[in-house]
Amino acid sequence: MPYLMALDQGTSSSRAVIFNERGEIVSSAQREFTQHFPQPGWVEHNPQEIWQSQLQTCREAIARAGVRTTDIAALGITNQRETTLLWDRKTGEPVFNAIVWQDRRTEVLCDALREAGLEAAVSSKTGLVIDPYFSATKVRWLLDQIPGVRQRAERGELAFGTVDSWLVWKLTGGRLHVTDVTNASRTMLFNIHTRTWDDELLAALGIPASLLPDVFPSSHIHGVTEPEWFGAPVRIAGIAGDQQAALFGQACFTRGQAKNTYGTGCFILMHTGESAAVSQNGLISTAACSVGAAPHYALEGSVFIGGAVVQWLRDGLKAISSSSDIESLAFSVPDAGGVVFVPSFTGLGAPYWVPTAQGAIVGLSRGTTVAHVARAALESIAFQSTSVLAAMQRDAVSPIGELRVDGGAAANNLLLQFQADLLGIPVVRPKVIESTALGAAYLAGLAVGLFGSEAELDAQRQVDRTFVPSISRDEAAQRMAQWEVAVEQAMLPAR
Ligand code: G3P
Repeated sequence: MPYLMALDQGTSSSRAVIFNERGEIVSSAQREFTQHFPQPGWVEHNPQEIWQSQLQTCREAIARAGVRTTDIAALGITNQRETTLLWDRKTGEPVFNAIVWQDRRTEVLCDALREAGLEAAVSSKTGLVIDPYFSATKVRWLLDQIPGVRQRAERGELAFGTVDSWLVWKLTGGRLHVTDVTNASRTMLFNIHTRTWDDELLAALGIPASLLPDVFPSSHIHGVTEPEWFGAPVRIAGIAGDQQAALFGQACFTRGQAKNTYGTGCFILMHTGESAAVSQNGLISTAACSVGAAPHYALEGSVFIGGAVVQWLRDGLKAISSSSDIESLAFSVPDAGGVVFVPSFTGLGAPYWVPTAQGAIVGLSRGTTVAHVARAALESIAFQSTSVLAAMQRDAVSPIGELRVDGGAAANNLLLQFQADLLGIPVVRPKVIESTALGAAYLAGLAVGLFGSEAELDAQRQVDRTFVPSISRDEAAQRMAQWEVAVEQAMLPAR
């Protein structure tokens, strides 16, 4: 039986998952790696640790599955997006740590780009807003701040990549320097309409084009891994940024289909078909996975603190001893008792985009208990996601009939029921909530002919549970109004 291996290189851990041809998980392995916070607002990863942790999890997953490497038809890579690396083409040595997507060190650089009047060009070409989140200003920072790097880049000695490019480089012993359209679309250097690197933006940012990888569709046979890594070569046949991979793994292939991944943050993507939508409501446009020549696009809203609010309750407030305790604590009260919690610890992302916002808990009374706060924390994940979905509805690209959900916190029934109540549409949890890894495996499987079409993948999809709205639309609107008032409080320090 042929198998597919997904490499899921995330922000806090590297994972490998082996799937069979029915899209069922055969084995998996996971390793956390070190987060470096050298200064407030800075976040870095060690590129060699990323590679080693990913390699080890692949080897562990293969061993656990009890399969031979030669039975693995192909592998697909999915990764934390935007995170930026530069390395030497000859030695393979990174010039610096990877600068992670969460890193805010380039805020001043972003201000300068805005002052230079680049906002309209960035938006129309890349679909993005100018923000330190994306790769471009991180590359510029490395060129400016690390001695000798600009000269080496200008001599053509260095390579830039997001984590997918770095892993392919390592897996192929430096033979391939490639990426896919979804990852390229997060750099702020890639024109998502022409699907080429953009000379005007490269010039404006002073980034030499010789640094850039070649860009391919997400489902594509790039080459094979060096035999030394897994005992035999394996074809590399899929690459996609993790959120686009999750959209694909959820079988959201057509206009109007949407998913929310509840991880550290929440990433809501809606497929917009073969044309890119321009949001009037604080969302960004991005490339969705492409299988053939035709481009596909999505609207995206990113919520920076989603499941991470539960970690804060555990590690900061010490209200629970393990994350899974949140559901029983929150369930121990019938509602949040008027408490609204806005966990904007690192500013507010879509659709508000207020980097200076701070966290706020409002509506406290003498009767408030830790259980109310826990319930409000859980509810905040759904409130934030609803704001993004509402912005998507306002952009009116297509009506959203249901929301497909995945990621760790999608295991939480209370959260998903509240999500359905607020949205007024069904919230659908699949049997395999590893949608990100599944999407990468599907992309690889399509490229090597293990699957014939997207329709075949859609037919494999199995629903675990559908949560249907149980409150009136008036009540939902009233709850959202309370939320928006609390968001105003969180934004106060910005004024
Ligand atoms: O844009 C950032 C996103 O790709 C990170 O996802 O799951 O690695 O935190 P995750």
